[in-house]
Amino acid sequence: MFAARRSLASASKRAFSTTPANLVKVAVLGAGGGIGQPLSLLLKLNPDVTELSLYDIRGAPGVAADIGHVNVNSVVKGYAAENLKDALAGAEIILIPAGVPRKPGMTRDDLFNTNASIVRDLAKAAAEVAPKALVGIISNPVNSTVPIWAEVFKKAGVYDAKRLFGVTTLDVVRASRFLSEIKGTDPKDTKVTVVGGHSGATIVPLLSQTELAKGVSGETYKTLVNRIQFGGDEVVKAKDGAGSATLSMAYAGSEFAAALMRAKKGETGVVIPTFVESPLFASEGVAFFSSNVELGPEGVAKIHPLGELSPEEQEYLKACLPDLKKNIEKGVSFVNQ
Ligand code: 2OP
Repeated sequence: MFAARRSLASASKRAFSTTPANLVKVAVLGAGGGIGQPLSLLLKLNPDVTELSLYDIRGAPGVAADIGHVNVNSVVKGYAAENLKDALAGAEIILIPAGVPRKPGMTRDDLFNTNASIVRDLAKAAAEVAPKALVGIISNPVNSTVPIWAEVFKKAGVYDAKRLFGVTTLDVVRASRFLSEIKGTDPKDTKVTVVGGHSGATIVPLLSQTELAKGVSGETYKTLVNRIQFGGDEVVKAKDGAGSATLSMAYAGSEFAAALMRAKKGETGVVIPTFVESPLFASEGVAFFSSNVELGPEGVAKIHPLGELSPEEQEYLKACLPDLKKNIEKGVSFVNQ
């Protein structure tokens, strides 16, 4: 009798573990594009994702049909342009690689005129249909598109700073890879915190906080920092007019989403650099800043301070802040003009 009751209890626990509370629906907005397609595939491979909702102005149903054949037990649905709200309904995580990429000679800010309105319109729909989702913005210029999303949500009365992230993971991925190339180490053991924003001089790697980077100095240090800050340009140049980083960006985006999902499931100690509304430099008029952020089930759990900086890093930070401030203000005034 007792045993029967116990097995009933564990059966009901098993049943409970498949209730909607444990399902994770992830929406990708821009799923038909260069980043969106590989990002969607990588998300399909993540067992924490139970439903994948792929949206784009063109191509998403085709991408969904294709990825849907991968033999992993999650549902994949594709949505065409007019079905944005259906794609977003019930999404707990929204990833946004939508927009146009750079061509040689362009900065991320040069994409503002096209991508700002794309992100604003997606935000308007999300504010209506999925205001509680955790949102990771990949669309450039991230330094401006994140504040754009925030302003749209504020206007709709649904803004929660804890749920909005700019994905700066590719800067962290590049820093790890480039340092490991110099040191001959395995990148998985070569962790570098990168702070600031996601564009040129706003990207500030804190190499002094990485044991393995000790001894990297002089020209090697300067070249490494420059390569981390402008790594995206290497790809833009090599693609020669065909766009910017898509595959490494998709990898970085899926790593970021995986971190969000681990924290959502209750894993503690999930810490990743990401661009969020931050108190760190708010008194200097920089309302958003990327630093190590501890994630929890509701999004941001704790924003870590920068820790000790070397004199060189203090200089890089000094150069970052005014640029970042301008990028943020540009996003804010775009929505409020
Ligand atoms: C990059 O860093 C696409 O912003 C992306 O290359």
